[in-house]
Amino acid sequence: MKGPRFTPLIDSLPATVPFVGPEEQERIMGRPFTARLGANESVYGPAPEAIAAMAAEAAESWKYGDSLSHDLRAKLSEVHGVNPENMVIGSGIDGLLGSLVRLLVGQGTPVVTSAGAYPTFNYHVTGFGGTIHSVPYRNDAEDPDALIAKAAEVDAALIYFANPDNPMGSWHSAGRVQAMIDALPEGCVLCLDEAYCEFAPEGAVPPLDMTHPRVIRMRTFSKAHGMAGARIGYALGHEALIAAFSKVRNHFGVNRMAQAGALASLNAPDWLAHVQTEVAAARERISAIAAENGLAALPSATNFVTIDCGRDGAYAKSVLDGLIARGVFVRMPFVAPENRCIRVSAGTRADTDAFAVALRDTLAALG
Ligand SMILES: Cc1ncc(COP(=O)(O)O)c(C=O)c1O
Repeated sequence: MKGPRFTPLIDSLPATVPFVGPEEQERIMGRPFTARLGANESVYGPAPEAIAAMAAEAAESWKYGDSLSHDLRAKLSEVHGVNPENMVIGSGIDGLLGSLVRLLVGQGTPVVTSAGAYPTFNYHVTGFGGTIHSVPYRNDAEDPDALIAKAAEVDAALIYFANPDNPMGSWHSAGRVQAMIDALPEGCVLCLDEAYCEFAPEGAVPPLDMTHPRVIRMRTFSKAHGMAGARIGYALGHEALIAAFSKVRNHFGVNRMAQAGALASLNAPDWLAHVQTEVAAARERISAIAAENGLAALPSATNFVTIDCGRDGAYAKSVLDGLIARGVFVRMPFVAPENRCIRVSAGTRADTDAFAVALRDTLAALG
């Protein structure tokens, strides 16, 4: 009997998963992690107001969500000073990246990113048959000039650039990002992933300008708002580019509870400030733990700290494996030379204490 007739593209794809989740790792290990510091989630949780709103909305979940996310877009337009037509809500940045790529990328379309940057973007590009051109990081940061030069060279339809960046936690100034926007090759869209913008220092995020037809900014409720499991984020851009999403997006893909929770979170700015304070303290603690163990923490504009383990990727991997074996879930960059590092999310005091013990014991065991 013959199997399904997959398209030639699907038949050609490797069965890769961008990330193996901590739950799967726990199933394989047969026990839970003591500290969950690998996915840059917000261990501080959603705002109490968001939890209450989501709980209340659970009883209404027999209804489809508002496919236009009207109330949330209205609130976001107030927060950001842009029109509701300049934004589309999606199931996290990951979902929005899938739609954006579907809009712009077909078989063989050239796309530019940084080697070792957020892999879910590449996953979508590969899934639509695009051709990925990568440029290396420079001094542990994405390299705006190289991204622009490569896009011009290959006539890219799309550039992916995260500011602040995952996995290194590095960032560029608003001026540098604006210069990149100004140098964008004709016909090329810049996807500016700002998942971590709430943790960035003053002056790292350019003002929102919705007049450029080919710049799209991605934001999420997964990080500072602590709602990663609710799967909700948004894209900001020129209304013509945003309108195109309605040709391909999953119109009812954002559930009611997520919409209600996101709205309530925007109405609870004190919680955001609280999370920012906690993250700043945790970053300092993680950096101090690294230093106590003779390792260097890189500066971070995110809710995680990337720690240079001081040797090669194989050594960093053994540090990572040692931490995981000791119940601390962390991740590491995929590509050399950045893979000499491990990446540790901001946690509670108990989480960082567990990390401190596990790191000390791991390094002692490695010798
Ligand atoms: C740079 C970057 N973009 C996007 C995401 C995913 O965001 P979302 O949860 O909104 O899909 C992450 C999550 O780690 C990230 O690091």
